[in-house]
Amino acid sequence: MDRIRIVGGSRLEGVIPISGAKNAALPLMIASLLTRETLTLENLPRLADVRLLLRILGNHGVDHAIAGKRPGESAISGQTLHLDAKNIVDTTAPYELVSRMRASFWVLAPLLARMGEAKVSLPGGCAIGTRPVDLLLMALEKLGVGLDIEAGYVIARAPKGLTGGQIVFPKVTVGGTHMALMAASLARGDTVIHNAAREPEIVDLADCLIKMGAKIRGAGTSTIEISGVTSLGGARHAVLPDRIETGTYAMAVAMTGGDVFLQGARPELLQAALDTLTRTGAEITSDSLGVRVRRGGGRIHSVDVMTDPFPGFPTDLQAQFMALMTRADGVSRITETIFENRFMHVQELARFGAKIHLEHDTAVVTGVPTLKGAPVMATDLRASVSLVIAALVAEGETTVHRVYHLDRGFEQLEQKLGACGALVERISGGD
Ligand code: UD1
Repeated sequence: MDRIRIVGGSRLEGVIPISGAKNAALPLMIASLLTRETLTLENLPRLADVRLLLRILGNHGVDHAIAGKRPGESAISGQTLHLDAKNIVDTTAPYELVSRMRASFWVLAPLLARMGEAKVSLPGGCAIGTRPVDLLLMALEKLGVGLDIEAGYVIARAPKGLTGGQIVFPKVTVGGTHMALMAASLARGDTVIHNAAREPEIVDLADCLIKMGAKIRGAGTSTIEISGVTSLGGARHAVLPDRIETGTYAMAVAMTGGDVFLQGARPELLQAALDTLTRTGAEITSDSLGVRVRRGGGRIHSVDVMTDPFPGFPTDLQAQFMALMTRADGVSRITETIFENRFMHVQELARFGAKIHLEHDTAVVTGVPTLKGAPVMATDLRASVSLVIAALVAEGETTVHRVYHLDRGFEQLEQKLGACGALVERISGGD
């Protein structure tokens, strides 16, 4: 297993290109199952999760081709992927594949919509508390799907096709909204999703489905209306920039000090996080080409945050923000409202000398003047990058173990940070 070695102390200066969003790329790729025609996705990030989902889709019979590098493109430019689900050969998604990535469970919706049946293993993914699928299944039941759970598999049937209905989510769920959008697009009649997730990735999926011929109104608001159509066609769609990657590097600059332009970033996708960073003392400006983050030599101010569904402060930036607060000039309270047990980074941050204690769903962080490098272990995707942020200012050397978590969601992290002056290297093999 690879490790990442970081020597702390360098300010970040330069340009970081922002990749396509993992959390948009995955549902967009899954949407290819809805049509017999080719779906072309541009600006696709090179990530382990994308490669794994290609394997899962391949198992169902989806062919894919990745376009070669075009003149003028750098190694970091997004890829163009053609997905062709003309013949679905298998409607089962096996445990071996689904257990490695929770989002792959979402194939259930398009398989049912197109084939009238699907058998999908209950999911795995990041170890961040219990992540049930009750609401995802409830949404499908509202569209006329019959469900059984047998030996760890969901067996779903809609032999006469899906029928539109009213879906009321008692809690905002991104995955539930993605699945409902895909299923309802091919259902007979009209569907209304109440209390829908408003995340930008939902809007990106809806935009792509509309290009494919779906009739969707209201994506980006909490009520989405869908009029089902009998079939969907091919489309070409560019994946939106990754707001979590943007926020992560913005926090890294706020931590180290310096001046970095996040090329291709769109500030409106993470306004709450950028406003919070401004309150910590970072200076943030933006133009049509991206977002610039600067911080001079002053102390980092402590700020309280609470995670919330979009447009609130994203749970996927909570760990990174906590890393920043370990060096702030006071006490910060960070409350996690989306996932229980999403504090596994706390004990690893403590290894740098951070002072954090937990009070139920709140981490109370008392800033310290210095962190010290240490061997640490990545536990999940977002937690692991918080360790990188801490390591960038820690005195001496840090080794982050289990970096496969990072590779799931951050494209070319060492290259991007290294190009801005960070001392980061990957060590292949070993534990
Ligand atoms: C997606 C994101 C993830 C992000 C999360 C919240 C992807 C690939 N992943 O995950 O990075 O952290 O949104 O913004 O886009 N819930 C239930 N029952 C269900 C489904 C969800 O109780 O059937 C709960 C979850 O446990 C959690 C909350 O609803 O407490 C939100 O989860 P959800 O929005 O569904 O997260 P994901 O779609 O899995």
